[in-house]
Amino acid sequence: MKTPKVSLAVLAATNLAKAALNDIISIDSQLTYRVLPDFEGNVTENFVDTSTTNTTTSTLFAAARNATFISYSPDFLSLIGPNPSLQLITQRNESFANEAGIWVPPLNEVWFTSSTIDDMTTISVLSLSNLSISTPSLSQPIINANGGYYFDSKVYFASDGNAAVPSAIYSVDPVTGETEVLINSYFGLQFNGPNDITWVKPPNSNQTFMFFTDDPLSSLFDDGPPPVLVDAVWRFDPTSHSLVPVISRADILIPNGIATNKEQNKLFVTDSTPIDSGTESLPAGAGNSGSNAIYAFDLVNDANGIPWPVNKRLFGISRTGIPDGIKVDDQGRVWTGEGEGIVVRDSSGKVLGLFNAETLLVDRGAGGPLANFALAGDRLVVEGNERLWILKLGETVMSPGRFEG
Ligand SMILES: *[C@@H]1O[C@H](CO)[C@@H](O)[C@H](O)[C@H]1NC(C)=O
Ligand SMILES: *[C@@H]1O[C@H](CO)[C@@H](O)[C@H](O)[C@H]1NC(C)=O
Ligand SMILES: *[C@@H]1O[C@H](CO)[C@@H](O)[C@H](O)[C@H]1NC(C)=O
Ligand SMILES: *[C@@H]1O[C@H](CO)[C@@H](O)[C@H](O)[C@H]1NC(C)=O
Ligand SMILES: *[C@@H]1O[C@H](CO)[C@@H](O)[C@H](O)[C@H]1NC(C)=O
Ligand SMILES: *[C@@H]1O[C@H](CO)[C@@H](O)[C@H](O)[C@H]1NC(C)=O
Repeated sequence: MKTPKVSLAVLAATNLAKAALNDIISIDSQLTYRVLPDFEGNVTENFVDTSTTNTTTSTLFAAARNATFISYSPDFLSLIGPNPSLQLITQRNESFANEAGIWVPPLNEVWFTSSTIDDMTTISVLSLSNLSISTPSLSQPIINANGGYYFDSKVYFASDGNAAVPSAIYSVDPVTGETEVLINSYFGLQFNGPNDITWVKPPNSNQTFMFFTDDPLSSLFDDGPPPVLVDAVWRFDPTSHSLVPVISRADILIPNGIATNKEQNKLFVTDSTPIDSGTESLPAGAGNSGSNAIYAFDLVNDANGIPWPVNKRLFGISRTGIPDGIKVDDQGRVWTGEGEGIVVRDSSGKVLGLFNAETLLVDRGAGGPLANFALAGDRLVVEGNERLWILKLGETVMSPGRFEG
């Protein structure tokens, strides 16, 4: 979910608290469900902003507020390695790094998109070889690109369009820049604003499928027409040329981020229904039956080898804000961009730790929440809106296999 225009004034308040930047604070996981003798928390702030008269706990929380790495588990400590060292690639005066976070393994690049800047989002490419950032040269413009995915030699973008150009899914050849519209209508009706994409390569199948989420980004942020289709998760089969809705808004009210696991037999979708309907607009008539939550599905192949998301279950609830971008690593851990930062859960849903938005964003996230990031081999690329960070992790979390055709 992109954030609306950001204030350029926020940079004045920039203060990189370098000493605390690489701090790791470990918090006993029992404190995540029991704070004694008393506490007062606030849903719009972070867990570590909780106040308590327990001086041991309040001192720990105060230190955690300034630390980038907040750990609730030894598993998180081994994930980040013993001496994590964040590198600020660049800082700009606008929210140039907000969405997508697409690792392109053969080119050793990460492609990402901005928030709305002067009525348009931008697409940028980070070279992981030399950390240079460039603008790709595309054969046609992609209007208001949001999320995306690399698969089998192409980069795919979900774009919201604007008043003149319908929202669409585009494919880009990252080598030549050749750009094509892949999907822009359902029997002549516009999508509401495709948000994010994943490809699925079911086990024991030669076919591949694209899944994408659709929600009213275009009308909310890009002067697009009011939604006419109901929000849904869609499955595209390029072999049989079929486009089919597979998850209804009765199951996920505002589908946003979407990801599969390495084994390609689970699908995760974030629902970006705000807790407080004052924080973001709900589509008219949507009611408020959604949750700011992460859901898991099994991907089960039917007799023809077509994957269907079934067995929906609640997997996690965002402590603060909405869950947005999502990636599932090789070990089955689920990473999401949330109000508190990048939250990592194990495959059972337990929160292992988080990368704290308070240190990663400028001025406590005045430019909007931390929406997305990339996992590239053993590296995490953090889209901190006005800041782009890179961190070498303690282990490889994403191998290239699942992105090959
Ligand atoms: C204060 O919190 C710690 C855990 O952080 C706990 O062990 C201790 O019992 C608490 N003190 C009181 C008085 O509740
Ligand atoms: C929660 O925090 C917000 C923002 O810091 C503040 O405006 C609000 O008054 C707080 N709510 C309560 C109940 O303290
Ligand atoms: C946290 O950082 C702020 C700003 O850099 C500083 O004023 C404060 O003292 C720090 N708090 C702790 C507990 O280190
Ligand atoms: C922001 O940065 C751009 C490019 O570096 C510059 O052209 C522009 O004037 C800056 N805007 C402000 C408000 O500082
Ligand atoms: C960085 O590497 C890319 C290839 O990944 C190359 O195209 C680019 O020119 C290099 N930039 C710099 C500044 O060296
Ligand atoms: C996949 O394709 C190969 C070669 O075209 C074929 O031999 C094999 O039976 C196919 N497997 C499945 C599961 O369709």
